[in-house]
Amino acid sequence: MVPQWLIEKKRDKRELSEGEIRDFINGYTTGEIPDYQMAAMTMAIYLNGMSFEETSFLTDAMMHSGKVIDTSHIKVPKSDKHSTGGIGDKVSLILAPLVACCGVAVPMISGRGLGITGGTLDKLESIPGYRVDLSEAEFLATLEEHHCSMIGQTHDIAPADKRWYALRDVTATVPSIPLITASIMCKKLAEGIDSLVLDVKWGKGAFMKTREKADHLARNMVEVGTRMGKKVNALITDMNQPLGRSAGNAVEVVEAVESLQGKGPDDLMQLTLYLSARMLILADRVNDTEEALEMLNGHIQSGEAFHKFKHMVASHGGDPNAIVDLSRLPEAESRHPLPAPTDGHVAEVDADLIGRGIQLLGAGRMKTEDTVDHAVGISQLVKVGERVTKGNAVLTIHANPASKLNEAQTLFEQAIVIVPEPVDPVPLINELILPEGSST
Ligand code: URA
Repeated sequence: MVPQWLIEKKRDKRELSEGEIRDFINGYTTGEIPDYQMAAMTMAIYLNGMSFEETSFLTDAMMHSGKVIDTSHIKVPKSDKHSTGGIGDKVSLILAPLVACCGVAVPMISGRGLGITGGTLDKLESIPGYRVDLSEAEFLATLEEHHCSMIGQTHDIAPADKRWYALRDVTATVPSIPLITASIMCKKLAEGIDSLVLDVKWGKGAFMKTREKADHLARNMVEVGTRMGKKVNALITDMNQPLGRSAGNAVEVVEAVESLQGKGPDDLMQLTLYLSARMLILADRVNDTEEALEMLNGHIQSGEAFHKFKHMVASHGGDPNAIVDLSRLPEAESRHPLPAPTDGHVAEVDADLIGRGIQLLGAGRMKTEDTVDHAVGISQLVKVGERVTKGNAVLTIHANPASKLNEAQTLFEQAIVIVPEPVDPVPLINELILPEGSST
């Protein structure tokens, strides 16, 4: 393989073959292809795109640049959910134990928060002792015993993606649909799953700012996953306002636990149950959404879903009592209710501004090496369409001495728009994307 010949081919808008893509990715993983040639190839892909076929070959090559976890000894269907990220998105914490109660194993490899979007691993690490770095053997043992385990990306899962993502970040080539598709799907498919449900978010607090872009990405990922022999669905969901009523780390664990106990906010429960239902349908555990919802609600009401979460936490080294007595989770030194400036109806809760405010409090990272403060964040957030009374709290800020409280508060004030006339709530779930020609 001569790397510059392949770069030239993509530069001239010609399709790369499976072998060419595999050789290029292998060359990059072994170090034979230097960053400057990969950067040129990346820009050619960014500018000229890739067909579904090329994107599938790319995903496969990236997935096989490292280890693909063998879950074949676990004799139940294996399924996962991936969210493209947002503010207050604690769905995974509820969904993994809930779906696991229904006889589907959930081998979940998650990420950390970066920029304004939160990360499942940071939320989990606010539980004292919780280890996200289980060895593969520990991960598989937890999965076998409890049917769910939630860990971080290991060094040997899709190493090509790790190196390539850092290069894309500094060459202005992250927002490319085929590259994002391959990057997300190679890591998820390396988990050894049979099916995957994608939550592709759009709006102010999402990676994709418009619904059209989210739709395009979702269709690409569904098509590529299907070509790779997996059952894949995607939901397009609204992330213009945060999900649920809390955002941060420990405050989100509190909301997730309350949800597992049947006391979650409506929007969060609606999305979690719908995503979980799709997983059960793809795993052939139920015939339709109605049957799935009955099963899922049953496991919440019986307390089984909460117990499953407690057992998973314990097998990750976490303190299960911190899930029972929530005051054992990290708590910020002070709480500040933010009063509504006027009577009226909530017209907007800008997820971008809320996310930035939370970052200023210390709950998020500006750079990957930053540490997060697990205790800070917001709770009791109002939702679009709700009526508010002057002087009553529209949210509560949880702050520590290192938090940039005043700056954060200014952003929260700007984020929440109150108008005199009634406002309709915004639909959260916009569309279900199925593989071309499929009814599931
Ligand atoms: N998340 C990923 O894992 N990869 C991308 O390229 C973008 C978002």
